[in-house]
Amino acid sequence: MEENVQKQVSMPRIGEKAPEFKAVTTQGDINFPADYKGSWVILFSHPADFTPVCTSEFMTFASMEDKFAEANCKLVGLSVDGLYSHIAWLRTIKEKIEYKGMKNVEVKFPLIEDITMEVAKKYGMIQPGESNTKAVRAVFFIDPHGVIRTIIYYPLSLGRNFDELYRALIALKTADEFSVATPADWRPGDDVIISPAGSCGTAQSRMDGKEEGLECKDWFFCTKKLDKDQVLKKVLKK
Ligand code: BEZ
Repeated sequence: MEENVQKQVSMPRIGEKAPEFKAVTTQGDINFPADYKGSWVILFSHPADFTPVCTSEFMTFASMEDKFAEANCKLVGLSVDGLYSHIAWLRTIKEKIEYKGMKNVEVKFPLIEDITMEVAKKYGMIQPGESNTKAVRAVFFIDPHGVIRTIIYYPLSLGRNFDELYRALIALKTADEFSVATPADWRPGDDVIISPAGSCGTAQSRMDGKEEGLECKDWFFCTKKLDKDQVLKKVLKK
């Protein structure tokens, strides 16, 4: 495969180091992910400036920025538009757009200009079946060591659920801090899942109720309580 074709189809994967790049943004130049070492970061793309779904998303994300910051997570946006378009769009959002009770919203996180699509292609944000000229709505959760931990892609027409992005961040951090997994629709305060029994002996002792604090539905499916305050104390500001 020719090198430029390979670049076009490059899709980073969970567990890999986030591809490196330098970029111009609405908050100055960045060196990614080096500048974010020690923090979680959500790198996300949107199709185009001055479009309604993207506007609703930016207002929502900007309104939640402090909440993400409390969880030691920074936000970085990207579209394949130029810097002046980004600046003009963000100014319009602040000055003119009112949506769902949000108004006068200032987007303080960096928005990358990527006219060459270099970054978008590195991150598999250009998906030609959807569009050759616009990035899809990609979301990369990158941990403080620069490792990609979760990837979510949405098509152009579907605005993201930002409560879910926050929930996913808290769940990822909880899994790291407490060495557990989180079941469907988990939220802080819900029971968590402990790793499956790795031996017949452990399976038996769990079924015999010998491991304190566990509730086993079967030998492979055991949960335990994890207090909400304990979770939030650990995962916020860390
Ligand atoms: C929007 O953000 O409204 C949008 C962008 C690209 C295609 C369709 C909708």
